[in-house]
Amino acid sequence: MASRTSRRLAIASAVAILSAGLAGGVVAATTSSDEAALAPARASADRGIEHRVDALLRRMTLQEKLQQVQLLSDGQITDADAQAGVGGVFSLTDPKRINELQHIAVDKSRLGIPILFAYDTIHGYRTIFPIPLGTAASFDPDVAETDHRIGARESAAVGLKQIYSPMVDVSHEPRWGRISEAAGEDPYLNSVMAAARVKAAQGRNYAAKDKVVTSVKHYAAYGQPEAGRDYNTTDMSEQRLRNLYLPPFKAAVDAGSDTAMCSFNAINGVPGCANKRLETDILKNEWKWDGFIESDYTAVAELLNHGTAENDVDAGAQALMAGTDSEMVSTFIRDKGKQMLAEGRITMARLDDAVRRILRVKFRAGLFDNPYVDPAKAEAAQELPDARAAARKAAGRAMVLLENDGKVLPLDPSKKTAVIGPLADNGKDQIGPWWGRGDDSKKVTVLEGIRAQSPGATYAEGCKVSGLEPPDYDESQDCPDTDFSAAVAAAQAADQVVLAVGESRAHSGEAASRSVLDLPGNQEGLIKAIKATGKPFVVVLFNGRPLTLDGVTGTAPAILESWFGGVEAGNAIADVVFGKVNPGGKLPVSFPRRVGQVPIYYNHEPTGRPCDATSKYNSRHRDIKSCDPQYVFGYGLSYSKFEITNMRLSATSVNANGKIDASMDVKNVAGPTGDEVVQLYLHDPVASISQPVRRLRGFERVTLAPGEMKTVTFKIDKSDFGFYDNSGKFVVEPGRIDLFAGNSSKATMSTSFTVTGGG
Ligand code: BGC
Repeated sequence: MASRTSRRLAIASAVAILSAGLAGGVVAATTSSDEAALAPARASADRGIEHRVDALLRRMTLQEKLQQVQLLSDGQITDADAQAGVGGVFSLTDPKRINELQHIAVDKSRLGIPILFAYDTIHGYRTIFPIPLGTAASFDPDVAETDHRIGARESAAVGLKQIYSPMVDVSHEPRWGRISEAAGEDPYLNSVMAAARVKAAQGRNYAAKDKVVTSVKHYAAYGQPEAGRDYNTTDMSEQRLRNLYLPPFKAAVDAGSDTAMCSFNAINGVPGCANKRLETDILKNEWKWDGFIESDYTAVAELLNHGTAENDVDAGAQALMAGTDSEMVSTFIRDKGKQMLAEGRITMARLDDAVRRILRVKFRAGLFDNPYVDPAKAEAAQELPDARAAARKAAGRAMVLLENDGKVLPLDPSKKTAVIGPLADNGKDQIGPWWGRGDDSKKVTVLEGIRAQSPGATYAEGCKVSGLEPPDYDESQDCPDTDFSAAVAAAQAADQVVLAVGESRAHSGEAASRSVLDLPGNQEGLIKAIKATGKPFVVVLFNGRPLTLDGVTGTAPAILESWFGGVEAGNAIADVVFGKVNPGGKLPVSFPRRVGQVPIYYNHEPTGRPCDATSKYNSRHRDIKSCDPQYVFGYGLSYSKFEITNMRLSATSVNANGKIDASMDVKNVAGPTGDEVVQLYLHDPVASISQPVRRLRGFERVTLAPGEMKTVTFKIDKSDFGFYDNSGKFVVEPGRIDLFAGNSSKATMSTSFTVTGGG
C-alpha cells in the first residue's frame, strides 16, 4: 500500500504543476442561482446536533472553515495540519498515530474540532471478504451485510470513522478493472447490495464504537467509461442515467449513507466533482440529502486536465459551487479560498453549507464526545473467529458453478488430488484488488484448503501470472510457458485435478483496464495440457471481471467461478469442490464470448431488427454464431436440480399507485440440499421510450432440502413498472406489463398484467 500512496502523490504533483503552468486566466465559476436551496434538509435532522453545528460554525474563522473542507492522505498529513484544524485524513490506519493527530486537533487547535479518519474498507479491513462483484454473485444481501458489519468493526477499532464504500457503479464494461468493486450490470441488484452494506456498516447509529459512516461512490456514471478505460469520459442520456446508474446511489442514501464521493469522469462534458446538476440539484435537493460529498483523489485539481477550469482558483470554485464539500489531496479550496471569496467566485453561504454538512456528520459520528480510539484494543478486534468463519461462508456463497459436465464435481476427497496452477498457492492475489490491511500470511490458499480436506494433495504451479502494474507490466510476463511437464506429471500421478487459473489482483481494480478478456498468457495451454492427461478436473477461476472463456468451456468439464474470494478462499473452494457446500451463486454480469461484443448486457433495449443469428439484416456480429454472451446474467448451476413453476398474480390489473403480488413455487427435484435463486424480471412491451427487454425486479436465494418446495412472493408496484423518461421525470404509463420468472435472465415462464391509469 505504501507504493500505492507514493505513486498517487506523484499524480497529485503532476496535476499541481499543470495547474501552476496555467495559472492566471479567468473563467466564470459555476454559481448557485438559489442560495436557499443550499440549506440543509432539517426535517430529518437531529435538532440538538443542528444547534451544536450552528453554534460552532458561528465561531469559525474563514481559515478554519477552509481547513475543515480539506481532506489529506496519510502521506500528506502533518502535525501542523491537525493543529490548523484539517477536516479529514484518509488511508492512515495506525491507531497510535490516529490518536496522536486527534489529540493535536482536539487539544491544540483553536476550536478543538476532531478529525474524521477514513479508509477504503471495500471488501473487508483485515478480514478480507470476496470482491464486491463476487458478493453480488451470492444474490444474498446477508453476505454484503456481514462483510460490512465486520469491515466496520475492524475499521472502527483502529480509529477510522468513515469508509469509502459502498462502491455502487453499475457497469456494462468488463474491460474496466473497477467492475470488480460493485455489483455488476444491474441497478436493482446493486441497490439491494448497497443498502445492505450501508445499514450494516452504520447500524442505527454510527456513533457506536463498532460502526462507521459510509461514503457511497463514485457519483456518478463512473462505470461506463468509453473503451472501458478507467477515468475516461461518459456521455449519458438522462433516462439511462436515472434508470441505470443513479438508483443504487438513491438506495444507499435512503439506507442512511451520510457521505458520498464524486467521480473522476466527465458526464456529458461536466466532470463529476464540478457537476452541479448531479451534486446539488439531484443528490442534495431532489433527494433531500444533508450529508457531505468529498471529491475523489485529486479530482478537483483534475478539472484543469478536463479543460473545464483554467487555474486552481477556478477549479476549486467550480467544485465547491457545484456541491463538492471536501477536497481530497489537492488543496485549492483551502489555499485559495480567500481569493475565491474576494473575487466572488464562491459565496460564504456555500462555504458555510459545506462546513455545516461536514460538522453534522462529525457530530452524528459521535466524534465530539468520543474522539479517541484505544490502540491497545485495536488488534484484539481483528480477524476474530466469527469474522474468518463469515469470510469462508461468504466466499462459498459467492461461487458460481459455470460447467459441470458428467457431474465431475463434487470430487471425492479420499482420492489423490493434484492442485495445479498459478493461483493455486497464491495468497497475495486471491484477496483481490482492494485488500485493505489484509494480511497475506493469514490467508488460506487453494492448496491449503484442499489439503485440509484431502490430505496429501500434491502441487505444481504450472506457470505464473504477472503481479506487476503499468508501466512495468508487460503481458508477455503472464504465463509465457509452453512446457507444462511438471504440472502434467503431477496430474498423471493423481486421480483428480483442481486447476486454479485466472488474473493476478493487479489485472483488476483501479487503473487496470484490459483490452483482451482472455485468461492472461498461455493459461488455456495449461488447461489443454491437463485435459490431455484424461484425468477428471475442475478449472477454478480467479478474476475481478467477466472473462472470455470460449477456449476454456470447450476444454474443461467443470468450471467454478470463485472471483477473488478473500482470506478464506482456499477453504471455501475446497468446501464446494468436495461437496460440503452446494454452489448456488449466479452471475451478476454477462460473460461475453468475445471482447468485440462488449458492451453486452441482459438489460439492453430492443432494436428495430432484433439480433437473430440465423439471418443477415439484423443487429448481429457476422462473425459470431450467437447473439448471446457465453454466460448470461443470473446464470449458475448447482449440484441439485430445481424447478420453478406456477407463477400466479394477485390480480390481473393494477392502477398506477397499486401493488400486485407475483408468486411462484420452487422445488428441489434432484440432488442434495442446495440453493436456488428465484429471479423475477419485468418488461414493458410498449412505452413512450423503448424499454429494456428485461429488468430484474426481485430475487430470493432459497435453500431447499431434497424434494422440498417453497413459495416465493414478490411485491410489484410503480417503482418496478414505472421508469424515468428523457426529461428526468418518473412516469407510469398504462398498458401491459410482462413478467418472467426463473433461474436466470433467460427465464421463460411468463405472465402479464395491465397497468390502468398513469402518473
Ligand atoms: C479511488 C477511490 C478511493 C480513493 C481514496 C481513488 O483513487 O477512485 O475509490 O476511495 O482513491 O483511496
